[in-house]
Amino acid sequence: MSDSEILIAPSILSADFAALGAEVGAIDAAGADYIHIDVMDGHFVPNLTFGAPVVKAIRIHTKKVFDVHLMIAPVDPLIANFVDAGADIITAHVEAGPHLHRTLQNIKARGVKAGAALNPATPVEAIAHVMDMVDLMLIMTVNPGFGGQGFIPLLDKITQARKMIERTGRSIDLQVDGGVNVETAKDCINAGANVLVAGSFVFKDGPEHYARNISAIRG
Ligand code: DX5
Ligand code: ZN
Repeated sequence: MSDSEILIAPSILSADFAALGAEVGAIDAAGADYIHIDVMDGHFVPNLTFGAPVVKAIRIHTKKVFDVHLMIAPVDPLIANFVDAGADIITAHVEAGPHLHRTLQNIKARGVKAGAALNPATPVEAIAHVMDMVDLMLIMTVNPGFGGQGFIPLLDKITQARKMIERTGRSIDLQVDGGVNVETAKDCINAGANVLVAGSFVFKDGPEHYARNISAIRG
């Protein structure tokens, strides 16, 4: 896979929440492809971030793809809220409930792209029977809940995921999330990822360095 196909999705989990609109504008100007929005409920994951009203408030600050990563359970009751708030992609966790197929149906029925996320311990086979419904596969390389954690080297899993995607013959994003920096980004790209989420690495050193940080992980 060539570098030109690599997309960078800065996670605003590491942004300055007191200046979220300006931060989103800054990563847009710095070359972000997707804006990765980590929604946590303090139940599915042991941390709490923000909900649809905050997503709606930052929507006016960029036209880029809003890539909403829902770390919430249950998922289905809030899908409409995030679509109305301006989500372009909604990703739900396989582990968040017993009815992933229904959740993906609900997301797609609202006209946005659907993603399926896998925690580090969950095998890629967990989504084998819904591959025809997914537009994005998210491989977590940390246990979800916090930014700034160390990368779990699940490179074989990323390669397995890429093979599953190739077998569909469809264009499906393969996203890696957690502990992405210059070194781990290279490994993820070599293993087959095409979308890299990065929070702490992109937002380090302040807005004047966001463009440098994004291009460093793009390779
Ligand atoms: C973790 C989130 C990630 C996180 C990544 O639960 O899903 O998106 O913000 O942060 P870094 O890049 O700092 O590991
Ligand atoms: Zn995320």
